[in-house]
Amino acid sequence: MIVKSLDHLNIISKKISKKLENGDWIFLIGEIGVGKTTFTRYLINNLQNQKGLKETEVLSPTFNLLYEYEIEDLKIMHYDLYRIKKNDDLNNLGIFSDNSKVIKIIEWPDLIQTPLKDKLEIYLEYKENENERNMILKGLGKWESIKYEV
Ligand SMILES: Nc1ncnc2c1ncn2[C@@H]1O[C@H](COP(=O)(O)OP(=O)(O)OP(=O)(O)O)[C@@H](O)[C@H]1O
Ligand SMILES: [Mg+2]
Repeated sequence: MIVKSLDHLNIISKKISKKLENGDWIFLIGEIGVGKTTFTRYLINNLQNQKGLKETEVLSPTFNLLYEYEIEDLKIMHYDLYRIKKNDDLNNLGIFSDNSKVIKIIEWPDLIQTPLKDKLEIYLEYKENENERNMILKGLGKWESIKYEV
């Protein structure tokens, strides 16, 4: 699917946000600067809006590795694993704990080879036009049909 603009990305993130529940995994895959954090920011701000809460800042977890958000009953852990090279470090980040109780959104998830239920992989690719992206959705479990719904 072609994402035509930031507004279009926002609309897609809104559709995905409506299905999001604790226990879900979202993997964001694509080159530096392609839009992984921007997608996450829209997703989190849309959830906050839907619950009538104030939008918060959503920063890139490049240096902190993890930022957490509580949106009423939803708990979101937003990871950036770009600098993580060892499985031990993944365990230290608690990436496999509380699986059914939280939503994990992960940029640069390459190191995670564990099979996961209810995972949505979002692939983003650059297009010639500066504000366009190609997006491929690969869903497992409850996310299997999302590609027909956005
Ligand atoms: N259609 C689009 N979708 C996503 N981002 C877009 C789009 N058009 C323009 N952009 C811009 O591209 C940039 C994407 O940066 P962002 O930090 O989200 O990338 P990233 O994939 O998280 O990078 P990194 O790998 O460094 O974490 C932003 O400046 C955003 O405004
Ligand atoms: Mg990022």
